[in-house]
Amino acid sequence: MCDIGFDEAFYEKCELNSIFKRKMKMNNEINMEVGMENFDENANPFDQVYWKNLLYDSLVESWKNSPYPSIKITSYFPAYVELFGHLVNKECTFIETGVLDGGSLFMWRNWLGPKARIIGLDLNPEAVKWRDSGFEIFIGDQGNPDFWKETLNEIGSFDALLDDGGHQSFQQIVTTIEAIKFANSNCVIAIEDTFTSFMKDFAAHGSFSFLEYAKDATDILLGKSFGMYGNRFPNKINSEAVNDFKNVYSIQFYNGIVAFHLNQYYSQIPELVRNKPSGGASDFRYEGVNSATVNWPTLVSESNIITVNGGASKKTE
Ligand SMILES: C[S@@+](CC[C@H](N)C(=O)[O-])C[C@H]1O[C@@H](n2cnc3c(N)ncnc32)[C@H](O)[C@@H]1O
Repeated sequence: MCDIGFDEAFYEKCELNSIFKRKMKMNNEINMEVGMENFDENANPFDQVYWKNLLYDSLVESWKNSPYPSIKITSYFPAYVELFGHLVNKECTFIETGVLDGGSLFMWRNWLGPKARIIGLDLNPEAVKWRDSGFEIFIGDQGNPDFWKETLNEIGSFDALLDDGGHQSFQQIVTTIEAIKFANSNCVIAIEDTFTSFMKDFAAHGSFSFLEYAKDATDILLGKSFGMYGNRFPNKINSEAVNDFKNVYSIQFYNGIVAFHLNQYYSQIPELVRNKPSGGASDFRYEGVNSATVNWPTLVSESNIITVNGGASKKTE
């Protein structure tokens, strides 16, 4: 199989092996040919790029072969592979807000495999027809926090939630807040079509767009680190918001998707640690140039040249 000095028992444990098993042994419910033409049985199991490409191929095939229409954007497929690839062929609960023609429900089921519980949420009551195809469907308004409380209580814990619903900033924000509040285990919450933060017909939310919310949320993650350096940080912080995001350890931005990663272990309060006592080397951090002139990455603007000055000019610790 692979000549890197590991035996089958190790290979068996390898997470990525599940894809191999799926391809070789799955029952006929799954399209066994998906991605098969690109499968190399001599592949090194640590070759992340190879496995990612395989997952990508099978995802795109699942989307193309879905029996019902689904509209997606090309940049989403590699993001889905990174965000949800670990769930392929696992027992998992996957929720998508926004059912429309049902096409994406079938894509997820084909890609994730028969052990996945696929759940669709929509405001349109006609979406219940997809229950006949084995999907769990909940009807309600994602802009209403009560809908989330009721629905997530009924669903129980979940591994992934993808929002492809109404796309208004306030709906995306409510979805994020309520899902994070409910999620008590490791999971990923991904909000899709975040470009609507810039669209005039989505009310041009300006400084209270979903993207501004998500960018500010990255600051909130740092609230947990303020204890590390004593009084060098501001004294007053929004502790309630820090607490809201207490299980989030990473916020990831893709072209059109923002993903919130939750993990109770990785989101513990960070501590400053040393593996050994200082080696005595001088730290030259204050000896270099003390400013930089850059084109600030403001999107809706002319070129925005800003000079960013350095702060402290001498060592403070
Ligand atoms: C972009 S479509 C979903 C497309 C589907 N995920 C796919 O990939 O083919 C958006 C869906 O969100 C639903 N929707 C719109 N506003 C909503 C709301 N406030 N709450 C729940 N669903 C909503 C619409 O009824 C529509 O079915």
